[in-house]
Amino acid sequence: MTRRNIIIDCDPGIDDVLAILLALANQDKLNILGVTTVAGNQTLEKVTSNLLKLYTYLGVKTETASGSVKPLIRELRVGTVHGETGLGDFEFPQPEIELNSTNAVTFIYDKIMQSKEKVTLVPIGPLTNIGLLLSTFPEVKEKIELISLMGGSIFTGNITSKAEFNIYVDPEAAKIVFNSGVPIVMSGLEVTHKACINKSEIRDLMNSQGKVSKMCGEIINYYFKLEKVTEDKMTPIHDACSIMYLLYPEIFEYKYMQIDVDCSEGYNRGMTVADTRDWIKYDNYNTKALLNVDRDVFSRILLNAIYKLDNL
Ligand code: RIB
Ligand code: CA
Repeated sequence: MTRRNIIIDCDPGIDDVLAILLALANQDKLNILGVTTVAGNQTLEKVTSNLLKLYTYLGVKTETASGSVKPLIRELRVGTVHGETGLGDFEFPQPEIELNSTNAVTFIYDKIMQSKEKVTLVPIGPLTNIGLLLSTFPEVKEKIELISLMGGSIFTGNITSKAEFNIYVDPEAAKIVFNSGVPIVMSGLEVTHKACINKSEIRDLMNSQGKVSKMCGEIINYYFKLEKVTEDKMTPIHDACSIMYLLYPEIFEYKYMQIDVDCSEGYNRGMTVADTRDWIKYDNYNTKALLNVDRDVFSRILLNAIYKLDNL
C-alpha cells in the first residue's frame, strides 16, 4: 500500500506530542516528510525546543524546521494549559539534535515540490506557516492532497465562547487556508471533545514501566493539575484527531460544510463561521467537518500506538 506523504506543523504542546507519536507509530502508512513548528501554545523558541527535546528523549528524529515567531498581523498570545514550558512539568532532556531549517515555509514548499506524489499537510497549531505558504507559493496548492487540521468549531469555543485557540491566535492565516480551495478536513472541538483519554487510562500510563507510555501519562496528567477535576473527568487529545483521521477515517462522523473565519477584533474574533443552513446547497464545500468519534475506539487506537512505541 502506498504510504501517504505528510508534513506536520505543530506547537508542542502536550496533545501535539501525542499526534506526533501516533504518526511515528504508523510509519507503515504515513511517510513523515518533515515536522515544522509555529508559535502558539508557547513561544516559537519553546515549542521548537520541545520538538527537539521530544526527539532526543525518543531517540528518533524526522526532518525539522522552525517557522513563524508570531501571527501574520496580531501579537502572539500563547496558551496556558500546557504550562510555562509548553509540555507541562515533565523533565525532558536538553536537545541533542539540530534543526534542518529555520524557515518552515520554504522547507514545506521544497518538500512538496520535490515529492513525486501529492503531500498532506497536518497543521495542529495556529495556521500562520500554512497561510504564509499558500500566499507566498500559490502554485503549491495543486500538489497538496489535503489539509487535515486541528482547529475551529461549529457551535462552541475554548479560548473564548466563540473561538478555538488555534484559529483565535491567527484568524487571518486561518482565513487564507479556509478560502484557499485546498481540500480541508477540520478536526474541530465538536469531535476533539469526544477524542478523550480518561483518568484510569492515564493512571495505567503513569504506572507503566515503558519509557514512552510513562511520559505520555505524565504529560497528559498535567492537564488535571490545572483544575479541580473529579475522578471520572477525561481530557481531549485534540491534535491526535488530525492524524487519526488519516489512519482510520471510517471511525469519524462528518458533514461537508462551508466555513469562513471571523477576523474582527470583537467578541467573535477567530470564530469559524459555518453555514449550518441545511436548505442552502454549495457547489463545492470547502471543509469536511468531523463531528463525532467513538471515544473508546479512538483511545484504544491511540493507546496501542503509545505502548507500541515503548519498544522503540
Ligand atoms: O484548541 C486546541 C488546540 O490548541 C490544540 O492544537 C492544542 O495543542 C492547542 O494548540
Ligand atoms: Ca497544537
